[in-house]
Amino acid sequence: MKKLLLLYEGKAKRVYSVEDPDLVIVEYKDDATAFNGLKRGTIADKGIVNNKVSNHLFQLLERAGVPTHYVRQLNERETLVRKVEIVPVEVIVRNIAAGSLSKRLGIPEGTKLKSTVLEYCYKNDRLGDPMVNEYHIYAMELATRDELSRISDMSFKVNQILSDYLKDVNIELIDFKLEFGRFKGEIILADEISPDTCRFWDSATGEKLDKDRFRRDLGYVEEAYREVLKRLTGEN
Ligand code: TMP
Repeated sequence: MKKLLLLYEGKAKRVYSVEDPDLVIVEYKDDATAFNGLKRGTIADKGIVNNKVSNHLFQLLERAGVPTHYVRQLNERETLVRKVEIVPVEVIVRNIAAGSLSKRLGIPEGTKLKSTVLEYCYKNDRLGDPMVNEYHIYAMELATRDELSRISDMSFKVNQILSDYLKDVNIELIDFKLEFGRFKGEIILADEISPDTCRFWDSATGEKLDKDRFRRDLGYVEEAYREVLKRLTGEN
């Protein structure tokens, strides 16, 4: 599968066209940003880890009946995926208070939430991905009612599947961000699921195994990403 044109370059990935108009190649970079691009850096081999971790989890979700954009991994940094129209809504799923929820609501990090929280953000870098609710989404026509209902059902299902799976490798799924796309009239899971887009805490020690190590300058960033890959696939 040959890369033709660079269609899009984001903060962490590049997207290329291929001959088949229904498919694209995603290439994962080592670039890392936080706080809407204010903090910048690189995390050695992050692109390799995120590609492999995300593909591993997408395959797991596919087997559990969640439709995703995943087609096949091409090499360490590149994956063939279905070409979707991204729904400009980021879905955040939270099981345990952390990050912006803790800050906004004054709930200490690590507090178990009595029920799962879903948040929506309008995917717009210029505006800093502001939080929106269902009414904003319909008023701005970011998604239809049917689409949002599918998106929320799928988000809860992904949470259940991933939380159960990660428990077995001693990882607590604190929260994560999902993106969805339209493909031939269907909503499918797109983007990535990786230490960039999730909070993973070691079940026993509470050690952070995710991008918070970069955001908060905690050190051992590369090691934490590698550790997640190792726990999921056995690969070092
Ligand atoms: P938050 O606590 O900063 O709102 O983040 C919630 C979750 O969403 C966390 O797992 C990190 C992820 N996330 C992204 O993937 N991209 C983003 O731009 C932000 C702000 C958070």
